[in-house]
Amino acid sequence: MHARAVAATTTALLGAVALLLPASGALAHEVGDRRPGEFARPGVIAHRGASAYAPENTLAAVDGAARMGIAWVENDVQRTKDGTLVVIHDDTLRRTTDAEEVFPGRAPWKVRDFTAADIARLDAGSWFGPAYAGARVPTLEQYMRRVEHNHQKLLLEIKNPELYPGIERETLKLLGNEGWLDRRHVEGRLVVQSFSADSIGTVHALKPAVTTAFLGAPAPARLPAYAAFTDRINPSYASVSRDYVAAVHALTGPHGRPLEVFTWTVDDAPTALRASGDGVDGVITNRPDVVRGALRGW
Ligand code: G3P
Ligand code: CA
Repeated sequence: MHARAVAATTTALLGAVALLLPASGALAHEVGDRRPGEFARPGVIAHRGASAYAPENTLAAVDGAARMGIAWVENDVQRTKDGTLVVIHDDTLRRTTDAEEVFPGRAPWKVRDFTAADIARLDAGSWFGPAYAGARVPTLEQYMRRVEHNHQKLLLEIKNPELYPGIERETLKLLGNEGWLDRRHVEGRLVVQSFSADSIGTVHALKPAVTTAFLGAPAPARLPAYAAFTDRINPSYASVSRDYVAAVHALTGPHGRPLEVFTWTVDDAPTALRASGDGVDGVITNRPDVVRGALRGW
C-alpha cells in the first residue's frame, strides 16, 4: 500500500479506537486551548462533534470528541413547531433521521413542521451505522447538559435563523438557564456563530459579553463594519489566504481584542498545515484527531 494510504488508514483506525475508549472526567490539554495571543498553534474544533466517527450533532458525536480529548465541539441549532430548540444541521429531517419512514405522509419533513415529541421518536443514528441505531436528535437542553458533563466547550451555530424569528433570544435564554452565560462560560467556553450577520448582530446586542463569530469571508473593505459586533470571521478554507487572515487580525473586535479566524471544514493534514501557515487561529474539522495530529508537529 502507498505510504500515504497507510497513514490515512492508520489515522482512521486510531480515531475509531479513540471513540471506543472510556471518557475521562477531565480533558487533556489540547492544541489551541488558550486565550488569544497565548501561543500560535491553532485551536481544533470538532465539527458537529467528532462527526467523521459518529452521527453528526448527536450526543454520541459529542462524547466521541471528549474521548479524543477534544474540548471544543460545534453544533447547529434550529427550532421545532412547538418552540423547542434542537440540534440538527439540515432544515429537513430527511438526511439524518428516519422521518420518511416514521412519518411517510409529511413531506418535505421540515424541522419546523414537527413537534419536539415527533422528533424525539426519530432514529438519528442508523443512517450513519448500525452501532448508532437509536441515537436521537438532541434538544439543545440535552446537548448543553452533555457538553457541561464532559467539561467541554461549545461553538454554537444558529442555523437558518431566517426560518426562526426570535431564535437568538430563545437560545440565549436557554443558555442562561443552563448556567452558560456566567463569566466563566462566556469568557472561555462559549462562542455563538451564524452565516447571518443580522443574527450575530442580534446576539451581540442582546448579550454583549458573548463571543460571536460570522461564518463567511466578507471583503476586506467591509471587515471594519463586522468588527463592531463580531469577534471572529470564520471562512471556508477555500477563502483563506495569509493576506486575508492578516486583514482580519488587523482589526479590533467588540471585546477589545484582535479579530480571530477559525476556518472550516478541514479534514486532512496538508490542508490543516496550510491553514495554519496562513495564520488561522482555529480549524473546524470532522476529524479532530487528524487535524490535532498534524498541528502538534507544526
Ligand atoms: O462551523 C462551520 C460550519 O459548520 C459551517 O458550515 O454547513 O457545516 O454548518 P455547516
Ligand atoms: Ca455548523
